[in-house]
Amino acid sequence: MMVKVGIINVTGYVGMELARLLHQHPQVELASITGRSAVGQRLGEVLPHLADIDLAIEPELGEVTLVFSALPHKTSVEAVAAALERGIKVIDTSADFRLKDAKEYQRWYDFTHPAPQLLSEAVYGLAELNRHQIASSRLVANPGCYPTGAILALAPALKEGLIEPDIIVDAKSGVSGAGRTLSLGTHFAEANENVSAYALEGHRHLPEITQELSGLNPALPLAVTFVPHLVPMSRGILTTCYAKLKEGWDGKGELEKGRGDFEKGMRELYREFYRGEPFIRVVDAPPQTKQTLGTNLCLIYPTIDPRTQRLIIVSCIDNLVKGGAGQALQSMNLMLGLPEVTALEGSAVYP
Ligand SMILES: NC(=O)c1ccc[n+]([C@@H]2O[C@H](COP(=O)([O-])OP(=O)(O)OC[C@H]3O[C@@H](n4cnc5c(N)ncnc54)[C@H](OP(=O)(O)O)[C@@H]3O)[C@@H](O)[C@H]2O)c1
Repeated sequence: MMVKVGIINVTGYVGMELARLLHQHPQVELASITGRSAVGQRLGEVLPHLADIDLAIEPELGEVTLVFSALPHKTSVEAVAAALERGIKVIDTSADFRLKDAKEYQRWYDFTHPAPQLLSEAVYGLAELNRHQIASSRLVANPGCYPTGAILALAPALKEGLIEPDIIVDAKSGVSGAGRTLSLGTHFAEANENVSAYALEGHRHLPEITQELSGLNPALPLAVTFVPHLVPMSRGILTTCYAKLKEGWDGKGELEKGRGDFEKGMRELYREFYRGEPFIRVVDAPPQTKQTLGTNLCLIYPTIDPRTQRLIIVSCIDNLVKGGAGQALQSMNLMLGLPEVTALEGSAVYP
């Protein structure tokens, strides 16, 4: 029997990507979609590329077993709490349940969290690190797009104690990361043929990155600098992380003999950490965003700078798939006891 699922707010980029992926799922039926501005219209009228999905956009969620909320932060929390009250499992793609400390919402999102009791219950939906907790959860906080690329890149090095706590995360995102709502910075003439750093005063994904990385190695007093950049492409995030290797791992002796073996050893360590992970590929050359376009893959390339004894890790994801809707669907598969990869396999669209 097909499991009925819904999407709250199908008209945003994450909502529509969820609809596209769910429509390919053989064991799940997309049974209810909601929206605000397009209520009453057929999905294909509003989003012609999804015309194969014969559903109307409703004001309220129908009868489903599991729902995705693709609302903006602050507005998602109430929809999520209401769905849980009805006994519906929820995957929230917004930031509203990602942070464990309610005070952090005041500080970073400028609002008083109205359901702090749910924060401790919410499971951070990074399957590679929290698979079992996701499977038994009724509320999953789907990770942010930047944190997904950064955490997956750094997790092996932190967990194995290879690096010092001073970490730099330098990330570049395509424009869809900012969502569909219009803003000056994402206009074609502003973003095209232009690259800019932003949120240097502190991006909202920083507390999420720090929270999750700290959990991997609580003894390490992390100091993370995170600088996001906007680049003129539709999708994709390329993240480059830098951290000094710890003594013993800095390869001073080995490097004198040759950098190749040391690098190979580091890649083997990463491969061992992610052994059996269907969506992680530890690659032998610096990855490019297009190699993940439309896929749920995260490509990871760890290397070293022998001059500074720094570990450099480059990762790539599609922000709307592994960084959003795809990862949410991966969690749904786990929560419903379905094979984790269902409806998420396939190669990248290239070029
Ligand atoms: N974009 C990404 O790469 C990405 C990745 C991971 C997570 N996320 C998160 O996923 C969520 C959705 O992101 P998105 O990029 O899909 O956003 P988006 O494209 O900007 O979509 C926003 C949609 O939300 C609706 N909306 C805006 N304000 C609302 C309100 N006050 N009440 C109800 N509906 C409202 C609008 O729908 P109407 O058409 O009905 O007005 C609009 O279509 C966000 O929380 C975001 O942080 C985004």
